[in-house]
Amino acid sequence: MCGIVGYIGHRQAYPIILKGLQRLEYRGYDSAGVALINENEVNFCKTKGKVADLAAKVSSKISDKGNLGIGHTRWATHGVPNDTNSHPHVSNSGNLVIIHNGIIENYESIKKELINRGYTFSSDTDTEVLVNLIEEIKIRENLKLGRAVRQALREVVGAYAIAVFDKTRPDEIIAAKLGSPLAIGIGEDEFFIASDASPFIEYTKNAIYLEDEELAIIKRGHEVKVRKIKDDSLVNSTIQELKINIDQIEKGGYDHFMLKEIYEQPNAILDTFRGRLLVNEGIVKLSGLENHLDKFINARRIIIVACGTSWHAGLVAEYIFEDLARIPVEVEYASEFRYRNPIIYEDDVLIAISQSGETADTLAAIKLAKSKGAFVFGVCNVVGSTISRESHSGAYTHAGPEIGVASTKAFTTQITLLSLMALRLASAKGIISKSQLREHLIELELIPEKVKKGLQSDAYIQEVSKVYKDTANFLYLGRGYNFPVALEGALKLKEISYIHAEGYPAAEMKHGPIALIDENMPIVVIATKKGHYEKVVSNIQEIKSRKGKIIAIVTEGDTSVKELADHVIEVPETTEFLTPLLTTIPLQLLSYHIAVMLDKNVDQPRNLAKSVTVE
Ligand code: G6P
Repeated sequence: MCGIVGYIGHRQAYPIILKGLQRLEYRGYDSAGVALINENEVNFCKTKGKVADLAAKVSSKISDKGNLGIGHTRWATHGVPNDTNSHPHVSNSGNLVIIHNGIIENYESIKKELINRGYTFSSDTDTEVLVNLIEEIKIRENLKLGRAVRQALREVVGAYAIAVFDKTRPDEIIAAKLGSPLAIGIGEDEFFIASDASPFIEYTKNAIYLEDEELAIIKRGHEVKVRKIKDDSLVNSTIQELKINIDQIEKGGYDHFMLKEIYEQPNAILDTFRGRLLVNEGIVKLSGLENHLDKFINARRIIIVACGTSWHAGLVAEYIFEDLARIPVEVEYASEFRYRNPIIYEDDVLIAISQSGETADTLAAIKLAKSKGAFVFGVCNVVGSTISRESHSGAYTHAGPEIGVASTKAFTTQITLLSLMALRLASAKGIISKSQLREHLIELELIPEKVKKGLQSDAYIQEVSKVYKDTANFLYLGRGYNFPVALEGALKLKEISYIHAEGYPAAEMKHGPIALIDENMPIVVIATKKGHYEKVVSNIQEIKSRKGKIIAIVTEGDTSVKELADHVIEVPETTEFLTPLLTTIPLQLLSYHIAVMLDKNVDQPRNLAKSVTVE
């Protein structure tokens, strides 16, 4: 986890680093720090807290001048969040300065060895060990910084994206990566280093994404030189042209990124199927899938791996793939899958779903599946992310940057993309007629407008939120396609309002959760017209007779549930497998408004991070 930013060039580094860190706070925000080099002197500032706390401290404590600098926003792994454990970390001589995103797993044994050699440590971090290991090697073998870093990295086990400089050579930054993301922005006589491209997007559209086990020498007045850490060989890195723009990463008039991203869903879904859903021709075109249709059609089964909200999208996909494409699907938490010695066949297809494309457990599951010969298909949002590069093929959701830690548009666009895949496979297998396919495509094309319509319930949902904001527990129920939506609704509420919430298949209520129901328990029930409607209505009756408070999500024009429920939120009608795209919206808004009313930090909830690059 953690976000890193670096700058070397002709501008003042500090404003670039500060703004960059703010954009990277989704990666962690329990402490932050910056180091700036000015006339061979390094000015440091580190603090527990957010990037805003760092800015306040910098303005009162240090000179913010200099055109080389590095900065860090942290999500603690080794050592509590405090000023000392914050990055940057400095070597014993005071010359080498480092920022690090990742974990050095064998840091304890290295630390012991360094202590035996006389090194001292002020923090509890693995990073301080790494910078001193670099220093030890540099001095012992009289090496330049780049070579010393390379050698040190050959001795460490774990994951890293690092940037290091030597204050005695203020014209150079060394960056390297294994397992954590690192992008290098290339401007005119200036370079940027960051965990993703957002910190430098207004300065340059050209970037190199380092691959695992690569090291870059970034020197003023020179081209970036990339070498393999293993054998020093030169790498011919491609300079990519970035497609995101600055408006996409600002709040655009909304109070929170989460709300902005909820409202972006009509467009985001449209962007997911743009150019892929061709209603007139009656076809779906997904270039990443087209060359691999036989892999899917002949697959023994599809295994979907993901974490968090992406896992919920995987659960929805299980229903869609089995129903439409008749391919058996298993959905696994990536973290469980990779550690339980799973049986993986060469004719299995693994779909990895990940918004960030960087989640460590999902990445490890991919590597495991690849080692067993399975075909891996990545469904990611972040272009150029590690998972997208590690997969044999894949498709992007094109949702645009998602900054709010609680995932919203990533979820609905993942479901959209997975629906397109299922439809393409169904037609390739010949189990869906041309006219059925066309009907589904027409329905899918109408979804953005229907989401827009669903968003009109926002004011009413705000009223409902007022009634329940002080409740201690919530229950969410749904069936079939909407069971995963119930899980997602409960997760959203937990994540940002810290209210305990559970999602359950509606029919399972009788086997446990019903014991929780009394007049103080709000129960959100997804009761859309299609999908076991009558059965869900019976469940609502069971809740009613136990005095539970019912918030029902129903299809427009519903009358039966209206009579039973305390609050009714309508969503437009659509075909059954697409209902999750509409029923999710009110649940996102409900959790958003409750969290705002409780004065919680909606975009950066406590203890969470957007991109979990630790196991
Ligand atoms: C974190 C985020 C969640 C996200 C999950 C998986 O827990 O807070 O919002 O769903 O990671 O992330 P991914 O990027 O792999 O979808």
